[in-house]
Amino acid sequence: MATILLKSKITTSTNIVVIAERFNNEFGLPDKVNEYITTDLKNPDKKILTYNYIGKYISILIIDKVKGKHAQDELLRRHGAGVADAVNLHQGKEIFIYNQTNLPELSLAMAEGIVLGNYQFLKHKPTASKKANTLQSVIIANTSLNATKVKELNLACEATFMARDLVNEPVNILNAESLANAFKSMGKKGGFKVDVLNKTKIKQLKMGGLLAVNAGSVDEPTFTIMEYKPKKPKNKKPIVLVGKGVVYDTGGLSLKPTPNSMDMMKCDMAGGAAVGCAIYAIAKAGLDVHVVGLVPATDNRPGFNAFAPGDIITMMDGSTVEMLNSDAEGRMILADALHFAKRYQPELVIDIATLTGAAAAAIGTFGIVGMGTASADQKENLYKSGLNVHERIAEFPFWEEYDDLMKSDIADQKNLGGPYAGSITAGKFLVKFTDYPYYHLDIAGPAFLTVKENYKPKGGTGVGVRLFFDFIKNFSNL
Ligand code: BES
Ligand code: MN
Ligand code: ZN
Repeated sequence: MATILLKSKITTSTNIVVIAERFNNEFGLPDKVNEYITTDLKNPDKKILTYNYIGKYISILIIDKVKGKHAQDELLRRHGAGVADAVNLHQGKEIFIYNQTNLPELSLAMAEGIVLGNYQFLKHKPTASKKANTLQSVIIANTSLNATKVKELNLACEATFMARDLVNEPVNILNAESLANAFKSMGKKGGFKVDVLNKTKIKQLKMGGLLAVNAGSVDEPTFTIMEYKPKKPKNKKPIVLVGKGVVYDTGGLSLKPTPNSMDMMKCDMAGGAAVGCAIYAIAKAGLDVHVVGLVPATDNRPGFNAFAPGDIITMMDGSTVEMLNSDAEGRMILADALHFAKRYQPELVIDIATLTGAAAAAIGTFGIVGMGTASADQKENLYKSGLNVHERIAEFPFWEEYDDLMKSDIADQKNLGGPYAGSITAGKFLVKFTDYPYYHLDIAGPAFLTVKENYKPKGGTGVGVRLFFDFIKNFSNL
């Protein structure tokens, strides 16, 4: 990962990006270049100016003060991603950010976009060295920025990269056990406790939902419990994050078609990855908030004993589910995790899952679908974090009329709703397993991209990591 650094003295580099309301040639650019810039700046419509000359690269972004903070930050991130591409194109190693406005924090958003846009997943490319990006450092020059903010930003990017890597890893390399092992290493590196329950333990606990989904698989399920408890936590009761860890979703006996659906289903543990990686960042940053992470994990396959549509499953909480579609597997494993969460008497539980194609159909890849029973304040804080990191939450209704759609004639619930409101009925199924303030995040849209979107690469995006990190940071400042 390219690292973000602070430098107080002005030094001039080959690669410069300037954020300015009024550009000022503080680096002694040659007259010729300065002339070009001055001429170009006369055009008020030109907000982005880019120059390449004798191996140097300079990009100037003219800032409109009219824009709100969130829109401004996002513009900077996106511009940053373009800057990273340009610097890599001519094999630059570093880029200097000069911020000529009186808002030093704008540099952070720019740096974030540069770093996030510089991501690559080259682990399985034998000729990787030739293709690897050269950019290594992002230097914020001459600034009054606080070093902790930069440290936290580096952590947020590092954790996002870890989540992207996990999502990009296919199931023949990352199964439920290897996902749990990845969490264990994160715990060691980040300084938080990680317990992995194996199949025997999962059976003892009667996690019927997780076992049912795992029944068609030759690989064993895991249930990972992560806990970060600082010496003096702000909260008496923990915040619990629950992530869907379906390492691959074939749909099971309700098999998915391959093109454009199953072929992307290595991403179905993106929620689990977000939970583990967010806790890594939270722990490394030493935030004073007690956080627990739960990740039930398995693949969903149509193997010999696979659970079959029509099956009645007894869940960990003792309730029964008429399982009518084995492709609605995420809610089955999350239900047991949500029930398990009750033992912490949590202040708030947030789950995050690539749960329904309906969420992606409704709002596309540009945001997260959210709903739940959390308090108005908790929701407000979560939405604010969504805006801060541009992982926006679109709240769906959670009206009681939807409750009936999950009723079964022969069991307490069925796992399949009607033809409409598929994301909401999934949330309605899950809320039955909670007895605490609860919020459900459906990331089926933004978790995995088939085309790059600025600083979000093709493949795993790491959505949720920066959202949770920002939410817990702000929680600690409440
Ligand atoms: N993992 C999928 C949802 C998904 C779809 C994630 C697209 C990412 C991109 C989930 O397990 C699933 O298959 N959901 C079904 C539910 C249905 C059977 C009620 C769906 O959305 O079709
Ligand atoms: Mn499915
Ligand atoms: Zn799934």
